[in-house]
Amino acid sequence: MKGAFITATGTGVGKTWLATALTLACVQRGKRVAAIKPIETGVDPDPIDALKLARACGNESLASAPGLYRAKEPLAPYAIEKRGGARVGSLRALAKRVRELAHDADYAIVEGVGGVLVPLDREHTIADLCALLDLQTVVVARNSLGVLSYTLTALEALRRRKISVRAIVLNHVDRSPKEDLSRTSNADVLADYFPRIPIVRVPRVQDPKDMVDAAGTLRNILKI
Ligand SMILES: Nc1ncnc2c1ncn2[C@@H]1O[C@H](COP(=O)(O)OP(=O)(O)OP(=O)(O)O)[C@@H](O)[C@H]1O
Ligand SMILES: [Mg+2]
Repeated sequence: MKGAFITATGTGVGKTWLATALTLACVQRGKRVAAIKPIETGVDPDPIDALKLARACGNESLASAPGLYRAKEPLAPYAIEKRGGARVGSLRALAKRVRELAHDADYAIVEGVGGVLVPLDREHTIADLCALLDLQTVVVARNSLGVLSYTLTALEALRRRKISVRAIVLNHVDRSPKEDLSRTSNADVLADYFPRIPIVRVPRVQDPKDMVDAAGTLRNILKI
């Protein structure tokens, strides 16, 4: 299975946005994409992220395919399990399900959940699912003050698990017009730490039509 696993330094930094943009960019070039969110919480009643991805790749049924983890509580899966809710269960089975769903596609574009170490159960995190899927790993981070430590932390955690990172995306998520001086230097500082990993700056895009262009550089890096 070829494609990308979109993980992040944390929640709300643009994983769905980027995965959607990347999917649209591939679809526009005539590729068949299976854009999948295998684990989604806060599903009340719809898996909103999964639906965005599924619509972008033109296969809405992917969002509600059996065998994917869905839970109503807006919590990490292990927190849900501890409250007596749904368990994620076998990660091998979940990875196999993703592969089946992407069987006919040229590429699988898979969104993680939260940041790189979201606990799925007492023994596993989303990084374990990322390793099993063995796609090109992309780490999305919010391009704002604080991102250096968040990104160094996330990449150290992935390196310990022998997961290589194909690209880091510094995403301009913030709506606030307030100047953030770090935005101009974050990429440069991170490049010193990770000279072999492409660091892609993605602008805040107002018009959805511009999403495809914004994902173009990343698509080239991933060769998808
Ligand atoms: N480059 C961008 N330009 C404009 N809006 C963006 C951009 N990146 C993210 N957003 C917006 O920021 C918000 C958070 O992004 P998104 O939902 O993709 O984050 P996420 O990492 O998938 O969150 P979650 O952890 O809940 O899955 C969304 O409203 C999204 O549309
Ligand atoms: Mg999301």
